[in-house]
Amino acid sequence: MKKLEKLDRLPPYVFAEVNRIKDDARSKGKDIIDFGMGNPDSPTPKHIVDKLIEAVQDPKSHRYSSSKGISGLRKAQAEYYERRFNVKLNYETEVVATLGSKEGLANMAQVLSIPSDTFLVPNPAYPIHAFGFIISGANLIHYRINEEIDLMTEIAEKVESSKTPVKAIVINFPSNPTARICSRDFYKEIVLYAIKKDIIILSDLAYSEIYFNEDDKPTSILEIDGAKDVAVEFTSMSKTFSMPGWRMGFAVGNEYLISALTRIKSYLDYGAFTPIQVASVTALNSDEKFIDDIRMVYKERRDILIESFSNAGWDIPAPKATMFAWSPIPEKYKEMTSLEFSKLLLEKADIAVSPGLGFGEYGEGFVRLSMVENEQRVRQAARNLRKLMK
Ligand SMILES: Cc1ncc(COP(=O)(O)O)c(C=O)c1O
Repeated sequence: MKKLEKLDRLPPYVFAEVNRIKDDARSKGKDIIDFGMGNPDSPTPKHIVDKLIEAVQDPKSHRYSSSKGISGLRKAQAEYYERRFNVKLNYETEVVATLGSKEGLANMAQVLSIPSDTFLVPNPAYPIHAFGFIISGANLIHYRINEEIDLMTEIAEKVESSKTPVKAIVINFPSNPTARICSRDFYKEIVLYAIKKDIIILSDLAYSEIYFNEDDKPTSILEIDGAKDVAVEFTSMSKTFSMPGWRMGFAVGNEYLISALTRIKSYLDYGAFTPIQVASVTALNSDEKFIDDIRMVYKERRDILIESFSNAGWDIPAPKATMFAWSPIPEKYKEMTSLEFSKLLLEKADIAVSPGLGFGEYGEGFVRLSMVENEQRVRQAARNLRKLMK
């Protein structure tokens, strides 16, 4: 068979090697404590599951659904934005439901780009931020987002020095993998800049509800005057309501871009299974207590992780938001690459983490820990770690 050139642009995940060692260790009966993949482990709240079960009993719900999302769902998302961010959205023209935000990001990349277009994406990044454009054959340039970087200076520098005009910039705060948050002032600056330069902003707000202090509560870029002229924002049910497997997310904002995403999706899918959409309406209309409870689980895990790992000899910076801790490789192992250190943790401490390099070259020197293990297992990991650090 002829070689598939496109695969050259899709190298196997760096995580594949860590996963291989992890699977190998598990097959030998080892109990690996897994901070690797960001796969929320808490069950979806019961009232949402109950609604799904009720909806699936209705044979009408078994038909093809609506690609852009049933109107009740888009309305519920618009109401969430108004309640949470004081942002008014027209649910007919400014909201589209997606099959998880990942699908929305990928198809937005498809509809935005023709080969030769240039896009500016964060590095390190959640992979689809870059690979959506790579798959569609466009050019990429990267900006760094580590804590010490001044974001607007970095972004403007990259735009100005690009050989070809930048068509869109992806931003993602709170960030996966670095957990960095951004200020409202940053949103103001980037909206002004994007309007001036005629650049589209794609804002990924998947962690809108996973924050640990009122002062760090994420804002929406759409709160900024003029943002709707240039920006689309993506949100996700996966973390907010612990619904990762349901595949439900949204894109909202600029009418033209939402219509473009809606159009391309109409060629590709028939929307999520209707009972999932109906149950997602229930989720969005939930009492805030449910979101608070999920947030609290991550906060408690974060506190235990930071404290117990510090006692074991590894000081991890406490994340202000997201379900991740992003840590420099501890001093004792500074000479190792992130992949080598991840392998060492697996082989000597039965702990799985994600090597920073897997999120882009500027992620080297760091590892990401997902807070998807319960308190008891975090403490067990700390005990294993203590032996290694000695
Ligand atoms: C920053 C970010 N964006 C988007 C997603 C995708 O979420 P989903 O497709 O489940 O909505 C994730 C998942 O981990 C993420 O971390």
